[in-house]
Amino acid sequence: MNILSPSILAADFKNLGHQIADVDKAGAQYLHIDVMDGVFVPSISFGMPVIESIRSATDMVFDVHLMITDPIRYIEEFAKIGSDIITFHQEATDDPQAVIDKIHSFGKRAGISIKPDTPVSVLAPYLDKVEMILVMTVEPGFGGQKLIPKTLDKIREVRAMLNEKNLSTDIQVDGGISKDNVKTVIDAGANVIVAGSAVFKGNAGDNAAELLKILGN
Ligand code: DX5
Ligand code: ZN
Repeated sequence: MNILSPSILAADFKNLGHQIADVDKAGAQYLHIDVMDGVFVPSISFGMPVIESIRSATDMVFDVHLMITDPIRYIEEFAKIGSDIITFHQEATDDPQAVIDKIHSFGKRAGISIKPDTPVSVLAPYLDKVEMILVMTVEPGFGGQKLIPKTLDKIREVRAMLNEKNLSTDIQVDGGISKDNVKTVIDAGANVIVAGSAVFKGNAGDNAAELLKILGN
């Protein structure tokens, strides 16, 4: 089954609780939570207090995307405040395996992510070590960008690498996903779809429901 993970980065923060309830009711399975530190990416988003505060608002799977340098420093805290999946960037650490092990030590699912210019070959050692691979379809750091077409090949390459090893690891895509191109990324091999603007600009519940329908839910 394909999964929709609405990114709250594009939400109306003065109505965050309602916006989350809307996508929850529409049937979105995950909630994508973008943490940016102003170092790994140029922008700063939000951190622990926000996650802690929305944890009691929903039972959705918290899909936390860490765009932070040296993520191992904060894994324990993100695990303890209610993250279910913690995804970090391959480019942000010298020792991805140590980060994966730390995430697993708290009983959480681990994801590893690559930016559009990072070759998929860097993922090879971790294919059977993580629960999810995030192929960024834009440069991380901001919502509302356009999908970079060459990233479609990366999705295909990762799916081929997984198939070759008989692995059914999730492939997540993030950035510039819309009702118009979501089918294309699924056909390329992705099965966990992040959407920020496409969900939260306009009626979030309706947009999520429409996307879920295209995803086959
Ligand atoms: C970008 C973030 C995304 C962002 C996606 O760095 O990782 O999750 O919220 O937003 P859209 O779907 O608007 O491109
Ligand atoms: Zn993200």
